[in-house]
This record gives sequence, structure tokens and C-alpha cells, in this order.
Amino acid sequence: MFSSLRTQWTNRLHWSCEQAMATSWKGIWLAGLILTAALPASAQKETYDPRSMAPYVPTPMKVVHRMLKLGEVKSGDMVYDLGSGDGRIVITAVQEYGAKAVGVELDSDLAERANARIRELNISDRASVMHAHLMEVDLSTASVVTLYLLSSSNMQLRPKLVEDLKAGSRVISHDFQIMGWTPVKTETVEADTRQHTIFVYEVGKQ
Ligand SMILES: C[S@@+](CC[C@H](N)C(=O)[O-])C[C@H]1O[C@@H](n2cnc3c(N)ncnc32)[C@H](O)[C@@H]1O
Repeated sequence: MFSSLRTQWTNRLHWSCEQAMATSWKGIWLAGLILTAALPASAQKETYDPRSMAPYVPTPMKVVHRMLKLGEVKSGDMVYDLGSGDGRIVITAVQEYGAKAVGVELDSDLAERANARIRELNISDRASVMHAHLMEVDLSTASVVTLYLLSSSNMQLRPKLVEDLKAGSRVISHDFQIMGWTPVKTETVEADTRQHTIFVYEVGKQ
């Protein structure tokens, strides 16, 4: 139990540090640490999955739109959001950019919440969220992949992206670069009182 809690704390601390480095906004780092410290150990244990590659932090909608615009998402695209949270990228890609989209989410409550919203919006023919580990999903039908993970998680994922994706597919990452790849576009967006960086990569040009 203690080693599980220690791993959880290390993981959260790691993410907070990477986020602080990526944004240079120390407040978020401090707030994250304080909020984490305030959680009772029992609550943390209930929600922690040792296979998690990033905690749940939703992308602000303004940033979601910039990510999809920069990635030139359009009708005919198949978008995969790896670690899809509440499904906002999946839903927006379908509703506002005319794409089909699949979310992959480890947390069963978040996956269910996203699927309930998809049913409510009556877009189940074009959108869905799988309750699965993102490293175990076949990405060969994706033309666009969106990410908001850690740099270390992106590194772990990189060989799979090379293996699964077709040339010309776009990989759009919020705040965390894919080390060793060169983005074709980078943009900084201000939202929720901090700067967010979007990196767009193209398979074959990375
Ligand atoms: C930073 S949040 C991003 C959520 C969403 N993509 C967004 O931008 O609003 C990262 C998400 O990845 C999920 N996640 C972490 N590890 C995962 C894994 N191994 N497989 C699938 N999802 C994972 C977390 O549960 C969380 O919802």
C-alpha cells in the first residue's frame, strides 16, 4: 500500500514539475501540489490507477479549438484522443469540424461520462470513447491523434505512433513536446490565465 501511494505521489509530482517547466507558470505547479496534498490518502487510493500515464486535467475549450484548427481537422478525418478525459476533444472534432472521432480513456468513470454525453448529443454514429489503455489500441485508422500527456508518456508512445500511423497523419500535443521530433507548427495560446503551447507534428516530416 505504501509503495502504491509513493508511486502515485511521484507520478503526480512528476506531472506537476513537467507542467511547470512547460508553461513557466509556477502558480499551477504550486496549486497542484497544494491540492494534491489536501486530498485524503483514501480518496487518492480510490482514484489511482498504476497504469496511468497522466492525471486528468481538461484542456480549455479555447485550446481545443486551436488544436483542431492547427491540425486542419475536417470531414474525412478520423481523430483519436489518447487519454480523452470528459470527451471534449472527441465531441468538438465531430460536432464542429465534421470529423469522426474516438477517445481512449483509462478511467472508467470519465469514459462513461463522455459516452453519456455522446448519446445525449445523438452523435454515437461518429463519436465514441473506449475504456482502454492507450498503448493497447490500434491507431492504424487514425489520421489525427491528439495528446495531453507527459513528455515521458509521449516518449513511451512515440514508437507506437511511428508503427501505427500512416504518412501525413497529424499528431497534436498540448503543452508537452514529443522529444526527438520537430513540429511542423507551434503556437502559444492564452487561456485560463496561463500560456498553453500546441505542437503539431506530421508523420513523415517529424
Ligand atoms: C491531461 S488529461 C487530458 C484529457 C483530454 N485529452 C483533454 O485534453 O481535455 C489526460 C487523460 O489521460 C488519461 N489517461 C492516463 N493514462 C492513460 C492510459 N494509459 N490510457 C488511457 N488514458 C489514460 C487520464 O485519465 C486523463 O483523463
